[in-house]
Amino acid sequence: MRSNYTYKIVKLGGSVITFKDRPMSIRYDVVRYLASELAYFLSGYPDTRLVLIHGGGSFGHPVVHECLETRGEIDVECFSKTSYTMMSLNTYLIKELNDVGIKSVSIPPHTIFRREVGRLTYESDLIRKYLMRGLTPVLYGDVILSNGSFEVISGDTIAWLLAKDLSVGELIFVTDVDGLFDKDPKKYADAKLIDFIHASSLAELTFSTNEYDVTGSMGLKLVEGLKYDVRGVKVRVVNGLIRGNLYKSLVGGSTVGTVVEY
Ligand code: IPE
Repeated sequence: MRSNYTYKIVKLGGSVITFKDRPMSIRYDVVRYLASELAYFLSGYPDTRLVLIHGGGSFGHPVVHECLETRGEIDVECFSKTSYTMMSLNTYLIKELNDVGIKSVSIPPHTIFRREVGRLTYESDLIRKYLMRGLTPVLYGDVILSNGSFEVISGDTIAWLLAKDLSVGELIFVTDVDGLFDKDPKKYADAKLIDFIHASSLAELTFSTNEYDVTGSMGLKLVEGLKYDVRGVKVRVVNGLIRGNLYKSLVGGSTVGTVVEY
């Protein structure tokens, strides 16, 4: 996107903004301080514009899970229920963002994304236009139309697509872990947090062990970015359950979490 602004995307993971093990439960305190950190950043860096994306956590995931278990697919009823559930989480976040002075606008992905003949398309122009007008677009993991049926689009996928199409400089994944480790920190006491890695070395790291999930879903999450061919994007992974981390990663001065250069 050509303009004098710097663009960053922030994906707030579902496990940060909700309690994943309790249906439809928001981490109110976490959402509040994350919103404040975003607002504080925007007030100090008026030349930066943000696109926010959030996950489903204990809102979208259990609904989709139940549908798949009982019906084996996302049918019409399930689509409606999931989009409603995600929208209610989104509405809460928008309220919190507006309360701290962030001029946010919700862009429900089911209204602009669709898969047609296998190809995922969306109206990126709409997002660009809102950004140009000074609004902070907020998208989220959602259900979308897919050929003859429906499918789930994750907030991560949206984040990668936008990072590429809007030519953003940075993409920050706010998660419930400290970053990317060289091995599973839950299993190995000597696991080390990686503070910087080039994306081309990710596959090596993730697959260098017999256990595929050793670096956890974080490794796979980051490998996914290679699929979208994002180039020149700095991706940060930070633990949003620690107050102050999101602000620090937005400012970029101090090292917090993992930085992956694509
Ligand atoms: C999931 O979005 C959306 C639905 C289940 C409808 P994400 O995949 O981005 O959610 P988190 O961040 O993992 O919770």
